[in-house]
Amino acid sequence: MIRVQVPATTANLGPGFDCLGMALELYNIVEFTKITRGLVIEVDGEGAGELPRNESNLVYRAAKRVFDKVGYSPAGLRIRLVNNIPVGRGLGSSASAVIGGIIAANRLCDAGLNKREMLALACSMEGHPDNIAPALLGGLVIYASVEGEITWTKIDLPAGLKAVVAVPDFTMSTRDTREALPHMVTMRDAVFNISRAALLVAALQKGDLSVLGTAMDDKLHQPFRAGLIPGFKKVISAARLAGARGVALSGAGSAIVALADNNQGLIAEVMKDTFRESGVSARSLI
Ligand code: HSE
Repeated sequence: MIRVQVPATTANLGPGFDCLGMALELYNIVEFTKITRGLVIEVDGEGAGELPRNESNLVYRAAKRVFDKVGYSPAGLRIRLVNNIPVGRGLGSSASAVIGGIIAANRLCDAGLNKREMLALACSMEGHPDNIAPALLGGLVIYASVEGEITWTKIDLPAGLKAVVAVPDFTMSTRDTREALPHMVTMRDAVFNISRAALLVAALQKGDLSVLGTAMDDKLHQPFRAGLIPGFKKVISAARLAGARGVALSGAGSAIVALADNNQGLIAEVMKDTFRESGVSARSLI
């Protein structure tokens, strides 16, 4: 049996729209077992009631790409998924399915794909590396995508810094919320984001947490998505008041992520309560 653990991820971190993503300590488990015939898919946990258990399952589709690449065809396959990553909340659940399927298939049939090849295959399915890259590589990944080729580097987070995530009970479609974004931005807003993205990466690398409040601000996507999330600005302010160093929308939402080196429990409660005051039921994860 092959067993793979893939992390949840949070993309953008405020200013790093489509170029920063970070792995979280929350994992989906993918298990592949060869059986005599057929395809059996079992799903437990998040999405168990909605995810398909046939050939359209994303984990299977990703695995099939690997099998086809090397001309392998299993007689039968049992896939067991234990999902802890909330679906449709901006926490990389689909990237984890794609990466889980690719890694498990790579091992099952000894396909010998390296990380770059797995990344390219996964990106051809997801369309962008935001969640794929940190799901595969771990840590905080900075990436530049040029004509399908990805250049990346990775940093580890300062010791003691943790992500606190407030997860509303409603989903958001990345495709729909991307349509809410402008096609052109002003030079002033571009500079605003470049400066903060650079500040954020340098600060995390050096462990200089004092600048994260400024560094996790954004003008390219959050202002256009904020209106779709009741209480968005209030949750961010409340988390900062409770001690979070920086707070941002997680990927395309609906979750909000706070980075904190202290008071994580309090921040989690405050974010959840503030969502509730805005009429949104939410849970929090540390
Ligand atoms: N960078 C992406 C977005 C993340 O904000 O739309 C979602 O995959």
